[in-house]
Amino acid sequence: MAVVNRSGSFRAQRGKLLLLVLAAAFANAEPANIQVCAACHGEDGAGVGHDYVPIIAGTPAAHLEEALYAYKDGARKCIGVPVMCDAIAPLSDDDIVEMADYYAAMPRLSTDEEFDRQLAAVGKIIHDDLCAQCHVLPTDENVEDALGIPLNGQKGAYLRLALGAYLTGDRETLVPIMSDKLRLLDQDKIEALVHYYASWDPES
Ligand code: HEC
Ligand code: HEC
Repeated sequence: MAVVNRSGSFRAQRGKLLLLVLAAAFANAEPANIQVCAACHGEDGAGVGHDYVPIIAGTPAAHLEEALYAYKDGARKCIGVPVMCDAIAPLSDDDIVEMADYYAAMPRLSTDEEFDRQLAAVGKIIHDDLCAQCHVLPTDENVEDALGIPLNGQKGAYLRLALGAYLTGDRETLVPIMSDKLRLLDQDKIEALVHYYASWDPES
């Protein structure tokens, strides 16, 4: 009797172990067609060598999903690189969730972009005044719940493109308060912000 029990519970244990191994394998599995994305965003989600391709590694999944839906439904237009929107068009809701989770789980790497310290200091004041309410550091414990996508450590060329797209209307601002704040910016303030966002060190 005792022997049967023991082997029975061993079998149950082994069953549980198998389930755990399978779950881990699926959690780390590459989403199908991720190579399409990697062509521009890179294997590491940093898009090295492509200035206008944003860093998506380590951005919370909820923000990546929101952005992908915005491209899919046309609230965001891909002006510079139309292929990006072509790549998103066929994705199902499940694909979007899976791809967002996949990139969100990657470490956020530094862009190592050069910046001017004085401009960065001016940019920080503008950010704290107009943007910090919604845009927090990638390492902030509330980054997932923040309304906006983390901007610190993002590439300068992409930030200029994105801000330009909101200002021309090629991107809809999903929250009206952001439009009000963006209207207060001029080219000098945008540059100061870009330098401030470049000054962020993921190691800090
Ligand atoms: C041809 C190059 C290219 C391909 C392929 C591509 N992207 Fe992009 N991706 C870009 C560019 C460029 C942007 C910025 C576009 C814009 O807003 O004008 C972008 C933006 C994004 C953003 C928004 C990030 C943010 O911070 O707002 C996400 C998320 C994203 N891509 C995910 C993906 C996924 C997932 C795939 C694969 C299904 C993919 N991309 C395929 C070039 C590409
Ligand atoms: C009331 C909240 C709010 C405020 C204030 C705000 N934003 Fe945003 N921001 C958002 C949201 C929400 C998004 C995502 C919208 C989308 O999908 O395009 C966003 C997106 C962005 C993006 C695109 C990021 C990316 O990775 O694609 C940039 C750049 C940006 N904001 C800059 C700013 C700047 C600069 C300020 C201050 C001058 C600012 N925002 C103020 C809520 C806000």
